[in-house]
Amino acid sequence: MKTVDAVLIGAGQRGANDYAPFALRYPDQLRFVAVAEPLAERRARFALQHQIPLDNQFENWETLLANPQMARAALICTQDQMHVGPALAALRAGYDVLLEKPIATTREGCRQIVSTAVGLNRQLYVCHVLRYTRHFQTMRQILQSGVLGQIINLDHRENVSWWHMSHSFVRGSWANRDESSPMILAKCCHDFDILMWILGRKCERLSSVGKLVHFRPENAPADAPERCLDDCPASETCPFYAPFIYVDLLPLWRNVAETSTGLIRLAIQAQLRAPGLVKALSAVAPIMRQVSDYRGWPRSVVTLDPIPESVLEALKTGPYGRCVYHCGNDVVDHQVVLMQFEGDISVTLTMHGHSHIEGRSTRIEGSHGQLQAFFGLGGSWIEVSEHRSGRSTRHDTTSEIGAAHGGGDEGLIAAFVRNIQEGRTQQALELAQQALESHLLAFAAEDARLGGQVVSTNKLDHN
Ligand SMILES: NC(=O)c1ccc[n+]([C@@H]2O[C@H](COP(=O)([O-])OP(=O)(O)OC[C@H]3O[C@@H](n4cnc5c(N)ncnc54)[C@H](O)[C@@H]3O)[C@@H](O)[C@H]2O)c1
Repeated sequence: MKTVDAVLIGAGQRGANDYAPFALRYPDQLRFVAVAEPLAERRARFALQHQIPLDNQFENWETLLANPQMARAALICTQDQMHVGPALAALRAGYDVLLEKPIATTREGCRQIVSTAVGLNRQLYVCHVLRYTRHFQTMRQILQSGVLGQIINLDHRENVSWWHMSHSFVRGSWANRDESSPMILAKCCHDFDILMWILGRKCERLSSVGKLVHFRPENAPADAPERCLDDCPASETCPFYAPFIYVDLLPLWRNVAETSTGLIRLAIQAQLRAPGLVKALSAVAPIMRQVSDYRGWPRSVVTLDPIPESVLEALKTGPYGRCVYHCGNDVVDHQVVLMQFEGDISVTLTMHGHSHIEGRSTRIEGSHGQLQAFFGLGGSWIEVSEHRSGRSTRHDTTSEIGAAHGGGDEGLIAAFVRNIQEGRTQQALELAQQALESHLLAFAAEDARLGGQVVSTNKLDHN
């Protein structure tokens, strides 16, 4: 198959760190020929990694896309409110597009992008990475096998851990609705998509409640300063104390250890008890190095050089060192959506940001059996119990060690490249239409929450 040439728009966490490494691992599949990124350090680092000549390094998407088409594909990985402009321009310039979710932050924006792709017959891949995980693919197969009988009720939870919530939705880029997205769109467009995909049915109506209750100034510890490192009196007790989350990394390791197995679990347990020993062993054991020299998310968001010394320095002045009670954030920290799906299936989706353990949990009740599942940072499983035989079957759906989003990131980019190579435009456009439906459900849920109403969702063009 021919190597797919691509341009990257937005060399941040998702574009440069999560998707682009695929091109370094499989250079015969994907090759970056140009980049647009306003931050000089990020642009230069990406250009160096992918050997992009100076002429093909641009400060923004506008200048890159003003050039004649430079490649077959464009990856658009800018922030939520910066998707419409580059997506429309790239589609019109002839690119097949991989677009980060959310498609856009308004219904109009989402519809415009999808209809433009359809009208021009270009591939549009929205990054619903969960579809490409072993976990949700297995869950879908189980439902389709009929082993659960008639599906009656589904309870799905997006359990955002307390430290991930504080990182992304309090201190980070998704803290304010007007600057990014409502949290139900940012976090759960994935879940609406998965629910429709595994059930093979649409949602007919929904209602929703939720609010921001905890991360507010009135809940700050007494005399807490604006920044953790300015002698916060709660530094020994507050779970959100920034060095505890980003320098010690204890919350991340405890979470991964909780759901992982095998060697990685042993390595993390050793790190939690004797970090000095893990560091010493890392010279001979690569798995120990993965832990002792960890430079991934969320550290990689705090600073470009995510070693502990630079992280600590960044916490002194950067956004991730702020007290979580003084961030001016306004997105919810919990929201529940109650839905009725076709076939009178009752479905609840709970998204909350105070979970002790990060992960998505699912429980499905059928007339002939039950499914319970957990999709965690360190590992995943699905258990099916059949009513008549009493038999329980456990499926280990854990992906390869360290694979982001349970292997979904790599699965998605691989599928995007393959679909371009095989010219499967129609299939890509069907996926884009389904992605649009999931976004419309998220907008409806936000309307229902704000307006306190039941919203009818059985027509795609609902307001
Ligand atoms: N699919 C998923 O599961 C998933 C997970 C996390 C984030 N996301 C989404 O991915 C997107 C990117 O998130 P991120 O964490 O990588 O953000 P980021 O801020 O790390 O990266 C965005 C990059 O775009 C650059 N940029 C800004 N203006 C630009 C311009 N005019 N031209 C080109 N580049 C420009 C920024 O400098 C930055 O480097 C967001 O929409 C986010 O919601 C998706």
